[in-house]
Amino acid sequence: MTGPTRRVHVVTWGCQMNVYDSGKMTALLALDGWEPVGSPDEADLVLFNTCSVRAKPEHKLNSFLGRMKGRKGRLLAVAGCTAQIDGVRIFRDHPEVDLVMGPDAVPRIRELVHRAAHQRVLDTRCEEPTDHRFVPDLPPDAAGRVAALVTIQKGCDRHCTYCIVPRARGSEVSRPAAEVIDEVRRLVEVGARDITLLGQNVDAYGKKTPGEPDFADLLHQVHSVPGLLRLRFTTSHPKDLSTRVIEAFRVLPRLAGALHLPVQSGSDRVLRRMGRGYTRDDYARRVSALRAARPGLSLTTDFITGFPGETEADFEDTLSLLEQIRFDGSFSFVYSRRPGTAAAHLHDRDPVDPARAHARLLRLQAAQARISAEALEALVGREMEVLVEGPSRHGDGSVTGRTSCFRTVNLPGGPDLVGRLVPVRIVHSAPHSLVGRTVLEGGRGEEARPGRPAP
Ligand code: SAH
Ligand code: SF4
Ligand code: F3S
Repeated sequence: MTGPTRRVHVVTWGCQMNVYDSGKMTALLALDGWEPVGSPDEADLVLFNTCSVRAKPEHKLNSFLGRMKGRKGRLLAVAGCTAQIDGVRIFRDHPEVDLVMGPDAVPRIRELVHRAAHQRVLDTRCEEPTDHRFVPDLPPDAAGRVAALVTIQKGCDRHCTYCIVPRARGSEVSRPAAEVIDEVRRLVEVGARDITLLGQNVDAYGKKTPGEPDFADLLHQVHSVPGLLRLRFTTSHPKDLSTRVIEAFRVLPRLAGALHLPVQSGSDRVLRRMGRGYTRDDYARRVSALRAARPGLSLTTDFITGFPGETEADFEDTLSLLEQIRFDGSFSFVYSRRPGTAAAHLHDRDPVDPARAHARLLRLQAAQARISAEALEALVGREMEVLVEGPSRHGDGSVTGRTSCFRTVNLPGGPDLVGRLVPVRIVHSAPHSLVGRTVLEGGRGEEARPGRPAP
């Protein structure tokens, strides 16, 4: 790794937290002259930012490391949640790995990579919450992008029984509001217009730090940053979602009309065993309040099928909740046993047959696909504002952007529209996106070619 240019290839799995951390690591390494490249073959350093939320991404890491074996003269680093949880084993079993670092080590990456060039390094130290420092804003990372992520907290104190995240990311620490606002301002200065505030349970923001704003106050503060056109946040927890945050959907016009509110199951029995802290009715009441505060709010969720002990009747409750709420979209997963979690013991006593859990997943996904398509179809003919993010993938002179409710819309136009809000009439719905026609004053407008879904 000597020479004028050093090239790094970053592979990111997992949630937006990891996407954000990868951006920060790339920006920090750039200060030492590391240039990002698109393939591991060209790289002097390959950095895997890993996820452990389900067993699948963990297996993927093993096969990636297998493929990297025997390639001399390049550094191999494993970062992220799997590194935190399983770092000692990775370090022991994979001598080809030069650096293993947990999420708390992200701010130290420059020093760690430097050391790893001389000797193997393992850094999965868990910081005391009071010692945690968030990486300061580094402008090169997001320059030119319309949509940007800003982390507002790390870790989670909720301990849902199936979930490994609190082990991987530690307990909840809220980032000082002044730092959050500063990063948002700087991103807006370099062109960002649509900011997503990130945390595992954003509604818990600020609760442990007297004198700091709570999440509703933070939303108000960020919302008033000049130049910001849209504000989003993820992930919200139904138990902690406060009435003031619900109210924010009524009073903050730039707060986007989309919310991801994971429900996990429609069965009270399963919700209790998951330790979620709400019932199906509590959840439905929150949704009614949200929809009253912001008519047309697009609501998405997460589901788990095959949680230990889930019966056919429990699963029917999940299906009926889907029909009752009519989520605009959802991510659904088969339960995956995570060592060291409370539900791992439930699973050992009372597992659901994997084929049955998978069949339930497919039924759920089929019902969701129908409801999602109907929801998109219902938007045809409507006029909506699209924030244009860039040229469409098809290279046909159209651009792509998002509605406030986070739907992808293709519309005719050139690069001059990027970063602007464009009024559009929806003329067509594809399975995952919409096609729009710009609404011109006094005219019919121009139509993007239909039937070409956006990415
Ligand atoms: N903090 C967020 C996201 C957590 S991880 C939240 O509270 O919802 C994202 C999703 O992965 C979860 O919502 C859940 O649906 C799923 N998930 C987490 N652990 C899982 C496990 N052990 N098996 C299957 N899915 C899981
Ligand atoms: Fe995991 Fe629950 Fe925390 Fe989400 S709220 S990260 S599911 S423990
Ligand atoms: Fe995965 Fe870690 Fe996110 S386990 S889902 S990358 S917090």
